[in-house]
Amino acid sequence: GGSKLWGGRFTGKTDPHMEKFNASIGFDQRMADVDVTGSQAYARALQSAGLITEAEAKSLVDGLETVRGEWADGSFVVVDATDEDIHTANERRLGELVGSVAGKLHTGRSRNDQVATDVRLWLSGAARDLQADMLRLITVIADRAEAEIDVLMPGYTHLQPAQPIRWAHWLMSHAAALQRDAERLAQLRGRVEVLPLGSGAIAGHPFGIDRHQIAKELGFPKITPNSLDAVSDRDFIMEFLFWASLTGVHLSRVAEDLIIYSTAEFGFVKLSDAYSTGSSLMPQKKNPDAMELVRGKSGRPIGSLMTLFTVVKGLPSTYNKDLQEDKEPLFDAVDTMRGVLPICEGVISTLTINEDRMLASLDAAMLATDLADYLVRKGVPFRETHHIAGRAVQLAEDTGVKLTDLTPDQLRTLHSAFEDDVTGVWDFTRSVESRDAPGGTSKSAVQQQIADMRAWIETQ
Ligand code: ARG
Repeated sequence: GGSKLWGGRFTGKTDPHMEKFNASIGFDQRMADVDVTGSQAYARALQSAGLITEAEAKSLVDGLETVRGEWADGSFVVVDATDEDIHTANERRLGELVGSVAGKLHTGRSRNDQVATDVRLWLSGAARDLQADMLRLITVIADRAEAEIDVLMPGYTHLQPAQPIRWAHWLMSHAAALQRDAERLAQLRGRVEVLPLGSGAIAGHPFGIDRHQIAKELGFPKITPNSLDAVSDRDFIMEFLFWASLTGVHLSRVAEDLIIYSTAEFGFVKLSDAYSTGSSLMPQKKNPDAMELVRGKSGRPIGSLMTLFTVVKGLPSTYNKDLQEDKEPLFDAVDTMRGVLPICEGVISTLTINEDRMLASLDAAMLATDLADYLVRKGVPFRETHHIAGRAVQLAEDTGVKLTDLTPDQLRTLHSAFEDDVTGVWDFTRSVESRDAPGGTSKSAVQQQIADMRAWIETQ
């Protein structure tokens, strides 16, 4: 064990299978860049604390920059026997490059505060990228809503035709959920960007390091308040995995709607060829695979969230190797969301709608609520009007006509308050336009939603 960073007290060799089992370099090398960045900030802080000279700090920082370059151009060679994780690999390579001064870098530092810092730095960057993905998707939805503001379609509850709505209203309903997700992501970043470095293994730093200096240099507004908590806290990852789970679930619902709307039976939308695939057997097929994958992949972050909850539950204070199991679920969730979001953006910006099919699917019976509302405006209590409108639907069904074909005379057999102007109710646009309270489906109400969304995007 002599060649290992921690080999001093060991005389026996590590079992080869244990070596592989213990190693995280296979996946945590994704943090190579942030590990270098964190170490450079630490080297400067060691200098400020008078623990190394300016020349030594420069040698460490420059050597680390070479290490960063080797990872970037693919020339870094991992040595299986010693490089158990990204932290040991980078330090080993730094030693080869700059000599014995490399041995001063880890003064007062532990891989426990180092790995917690690296994951936070890495996730901070990933969250920034995801935030940009989110804003692009929300923008595409708002653009589409604005361009197709006049298109009407059936709105559903229980997947049964309910009331006429604007297609743009449907679009903005999903933008509203995604806006909450974007806000949640921004908020949780405030809890990710907190610096653990300077906590040592568990008990704190013995050489008067300026933790605020390191935080400032790494762009973190805060430092962790307690060294024991600093090395054992993985809340910020779980919170992120919850974010990914919920956002994934929201996108799976967009996907499900679009899958249904693109069926031959609905025919409301056609997904672009760019996001569809064919069948190897049935020549006529065009399948909404992109949306099916978005729907399916939403299961992954949920699994990752459960994984990490299960890993952390009941762990004793403070760092335990179990915590090495935090990274693969995190990386998978980030990869999944970075894959899913641009696909949704692409699908929504390129699909075409069939306005006529949407309009033709507006069934007369969907105006039954409007018929009840008509009587409300004549002073009849709503509970009564609901019943009368229900009987009108039944009368239409019994006489084999559409609700909208009932004459004012026929309607008067149900209630005397029906006047000849009741025929004005049989108008889908009028129905939609009547719902003009904020958040409703009238043109002005949807335009306001779009304007509010754009104003919010501007503040991001
Ligand atoms: N690879 C480890 C992890 O991912 C780094 C921290 C190891 N610390 C330790 N004392 N073994 O958690």
